[in-house]
Amino acid sequence: MSDPYFQPLFADRIGGVNYGKGTEIYKFEKIKRAKRKALAEHPERPLVDFGIGENDEMAPESIRAVMAREINQPANRGYADNGIAAFKEAAARLMKRRFGVELDPATEVNHCIGSKTALAILPAAFINPGDVTLMTVPGYPVAGTHTKYYGGEVHRLPLRAENGFLPDLDAIPADIRRRAKLLVLNYPNSPTGRVAPRAFYERVIDFARRNEIVVIQDAAHIFLSYEGEPLSFLSVPGAKEVGVEVHSLSKGFHMIGWRIGWVCGNARIVGAFADIKDNCDSGQFIAIQKAAAAALDDDAIPRQVRTKYERRLRKLVEVLTRCGFDCRQPGGTYFLYTRSPRGIKNGPRFETAEAASQYLITEHSICTVPWDDAGAYLRFSVTYEAPDEKAEDALMAETERRLKQIQPEF
Ligand SMILES: Cc1ncc(COP(=O)(O)O)c(C=O)c1O
Repeated sequence: MSDPYFQPLFADRIGGVNYGKGTEIYKFEKIKRAKRKALAEHPERPLVDFGIGENDEMAPESIRAVMAREINQPANRGYADNGIAAFKEAAARLMKRRFGVELDPATEVNHCIGSKTALAILPAAFINPGDVTLMTVPGYPVAGTHTKYYGGEVHRLPLRAENGFLPDLDAIPADIRRRAKLLVLNYPNSPTGRVAPRAFYERVIDFARRNEIVVIQDAAHIFLSYEGEPLSFLSVPGAKEVGVEVHSLSKGFHMIGWRIGWVCGNARIVGAFADIKDNCDSGQFIAIQKAAAAALDDDAIPRQVRTKYERRLRKLVEVLTRCGFDCRQPGGTYFLYTRSPRGIKNGPRFETAEAASQYLITEHSICTVPWDDAGAYLRFSVTYEAPDEKAEDALMAETERRLKQIQPEF
């Protein structure tokens, strides 16, 4: 097939004239293909799926009831622009109640159509060609992708077990620190499951001030915090002078498809975000904002979500430990990040986590997500579908049976 006349017109940032011609297969596509192969070759063997990074439940009935009512209100029909006051006020109330953070809802909070879009928009406020964004890896890459779209560079900060999965800020070269404008953090961290201690945030604030860098802390998983009460970056003195925190209702409220979250913190940065957002979208549907505001006022919802995933993680840790994995209960998120096996007893050896993950899917129908960015690790998500605890236990028993047969070696 010949190229369309516009083939040379594609921007370099997405591959230019070669856009659409690459043969590289990306990680999640490889996983999908391996799953299809396992199902085709072993239809008798159900897939044990720890690969899905999405909540397995609908939003609570009470929230769906608010949505059902609000969807019929004529006043909710129009453009929402930068969002309704009721949502911002509910977000500010929650930040005060749960984290002790005082925010002016009018100037220090702005909604977003999911935190993904906020992370995509924020680099537009700061990045000129040649500027640097500091990003932890492994991690959620969206802010880095957009940094590169604007001609900026990403400097990767590896998260390693020996540093407690916290970035080593002192190891950043002076030239990079000089050119850096953004430091993107994410705690509780996906995929490592680590939560950030207060002392780390204090170091971050000091680092940001000394190097004149803006901090974007991605708190998408904050309601899934298992070591005591969740900690907001903004609750640490000085945080509001150096950055913003990005929040989401996706994970902690089972509202992943509703596309709603908020950016809060420094008023000047929130304002810049809102100005750019206003040129990208016209706001989330007001009925969704109202239902989300009701969810934010109901602390029982994130508590129930947290209890469920904490329980599932605990069961998984027990099973994997009995099968030879070296793992402990994560501090947060619904992910368990654990060293990938180097091989199988009397079987294949694995150079990478990706090879181990492919083997587990195709040969044993156990799906995980591999990470090879900073050591070889597998991510097990506990968002598998199981209607009750009995079904959870059955799935755990089946996982243990299969893994014990395999005899992974580390
Ligand atoms: C670390 C992290 N940040 C942000 C997001 C985006 O979440 P949402 O756009 O649903 O708010 C995700 C989703 O997987 C995530 O894992």
